[in-house]
Amino acid sequence: MTSRRSVLAVPGSNPRMIEKAKGLAADEVFLDLEDAVAPAAKAAARANIVTALNAGGWGTQIRVVRVNDWSTEHTYADVITVVEGAGSELDAILLPKVTDAGQVRALDLLLTQLEKANGLPVGGIGIEPQIENALGLRNIDAIATASPRVQTLVFGPADFMASINMRTLVVGEQPEGYEPGDAYHHIYMTILLAARAHGLQAIDGPYLAVRDIDGFRRNASRTAALGFDGKWVLHPDQITACNEIFSPRQADYDRAEEILEAYAFHTSTEGGARGAVMLGDEMIDEASAKMAQVIADKGRAAGM
Ligand code: GLV
Ligand code: MG
Repeated sequence: MTSRRSVLAVPGSNPRMIEKAKGLAADEVFLDLEDAVAPAAKAAARANIVTALNAGGWGTQIRVVRVNDWSTEHTYADVITVVEGAGSELDAILLPKVTDAGQVRALDLLLTQLEKANGLPVGGIGIEPQIENALGLRNIDAIATASPRVQTLVFGPADFMASINMRTLVVGEQPEGYEPGDAYHHIYMTILLAARAHGLQAIDGPYLAVRDIDGFRRNASRTAALGFDGKWVLHPDQITACNEIFSPRQADYDRAEEILEAYAFHTSTEGGARGAVMLGDEMIDEASAKMAQVIADKGRAAGM
């Protein structure tokens, strides 16, 4: 699967930032029509996005547009304008504040019609549902399986914490009075387990203190350690840290490749067809080879 270690958010209302994003090392860029764009600027932002997608120059970046959620009056026009204008240059639609499978299905149906009417491959445009409220989290399995277009499950921490009335104003930090403990753990694990159960990527949302790179590293390292595939970045300075944190460490990657090589040899006929083998002081079996495979796959996808 294509790497999505870093997912750069860029306001669709800012053509200068969109142009700049093309040269950055983020694995995915999403052009925002939702919360980063004022209601009065949405129509102009759609036009900017169509122009920027058609102008090309994106390299290997995954190109995504975040539309407005289905409770607004904007969603249909966002999707129609962007897909009619630049559907062949668009990899996926990010759908925010998803509450249930019907919302994903509605987007799937609209995309199918647009693809057919515009000579695009049917099913070519993916969907990235964003989980940002209690209902969305409760319905996560149905959301994940609502359409074969679904590629990721994306956490929206700011909206989520607001939606459950959590008493905090700092995204990613613990609410005062709750420590010790991690107020995010249940949400992270629910999203991660649904992603793994249904073969999707799990993407963490933003860390808003953009000048605090140490804070970003701390926050990103938590979901990276659990097994998330990537995280949003809001500023170019966060990209290098994010790519590093969501790639395996070089020593772990080298060790994983070493384990896989030794396991493949010793379980083969010429290697003695053994089920478990010793590598240094450690016993390697089918399960530990699988753990090594996860790290090796991530490293290979990151070009290590
Ligand atoms: C992002 O959309 C968030 O709500 O955190
Ligand atoms: Mg949000």
